[in-house]
Amino acid sequence: MKTLHLTTSKEDIEKAAKIIREGGLVAFPTETVYGLGANAFDEEAVANVYKAKGRPSDNPMIVHIARASDIGQLTRMLSPEIVELIDNFWPGPLTLVVKKKPEVPDRTTGGLDTVAVRLPESQAAIDLINAACCPIAAPSANLSGSPSPTRAKDVIADMDGRIDAIIQGDDCRVGIESTVVDMTGDVPTILRPGIITAEAIEAAIGKEVKYDESLTEASKHVQLDPAAGVAEADFQPKSPGMKYKHYAPKADMLIVEGNREKVKQEIERLKGMNEQIGNKVGVILFEERAFIEAAHDFFAQLRDLDSEGVDLILAGALSDKDGVGFAVMNRMLKSAGYKIARV
Ligand code: TXA
Ligand code: MG
Repeated sequence: MKTLHLTTSKEDIEKAAKIIREGGLVAFPTETVYGLGANAFDEEAVANVYKAKGRPSDNPMIVHIARASDIGQLTRMLSPEIVELIDNFWPGPLTLVVKKKPEVPDRTTGGLDTVAVRLPESQAAIDLINAACCPIAAPSANLSGSPSPTRAKDVIADMDGRIDAIIQGDDCRVGIESTVVDMTGDVPTILRPGIITAEAIEAAIGKEVKYDESLTEASKHVQLDPAAGVAEADFQPKSPGMKYKHYAPKADMLIVEGNREKVKQEIERLKGMNEQIGNKVGVILFEERAFIEAAHDFFAQLRDLDSEGVDLILAGALSDKDGVGFAVMNRMLKSAGYKIARV
């Protein structure tokens, strides 16, 4: 398939919208990561998204809308808390999981009776959804398992030849995917951490929120092998998006965690040891507490190191219990297959 390369011009957005209306697939920029969009109400188009990504079809998609009132096409009930979150954070990187209307196809929601909805902030995304005149279901525009794309060139690397069009816009402002919060239970539950933190959500609704067990379990169960100093996860994640191989670079990856000076020294030591045996080593080490920058750069750095053909990536852990650094660590742990060396 020949993939059209488009810009964010009015004319090109119109072309892209026509493709969506006719059941095609278009990658487009959002403020978080690039999305791979299809008409959320077109089951066949949605099925093709799974195919293009090579993604298991029980992993539900986020439905993107262009104005808050359009959530009415997807759900019958807004609670006061949902309204607070919409007022405070939309447009922006917050996805709300709500009870779905029967009209929303099962394929879009992976057979669940809930639907994930988000109003993105990126103008190109809003223009596309408006021009298409339908909500757009869109997972991140990467091949299943690889790092999320935060630049047009990353989308081209994964999706060229597999989809109808790619809208090439700016690099994504945020760099990690939206916070996903489940609003269908008694207590709002964060299923995926992001740049909008639990604290910010609590402040908006005046009520405590919790993290899904799988998020806290994930870090608890990383185990240290005393002999090798290397840890691997032994837990079974529950939420649909968590059970697959995720964000993995082609290189092997190891996280080094501990006191910052020691982490730096250990990374240098491991780098030297690995280079001595002929491996090409890349390092990801962000400035202390520069969590926003880390979010912005993390996926891009993984992809750049893969392009350079490194064998091993050594990454310094971010120490942050529940803020933006925690959200980046969530991705870093998955990328490394939960392998950590503690110093
Ligand atoms: O920032 C983002 O959210 C990006 C951009 C393109 O908007 N999209 C994105 O989509 O990250 P995706 O498909 O890569 O991740 C969607 C996540 C998955 O972890 C999925 O399991 C979860 O949202 N999800 C979607 N619908 C759900 C539902 N009804 N219940 C629970 N989790 C859901
Ligand atoms: Mg994804």
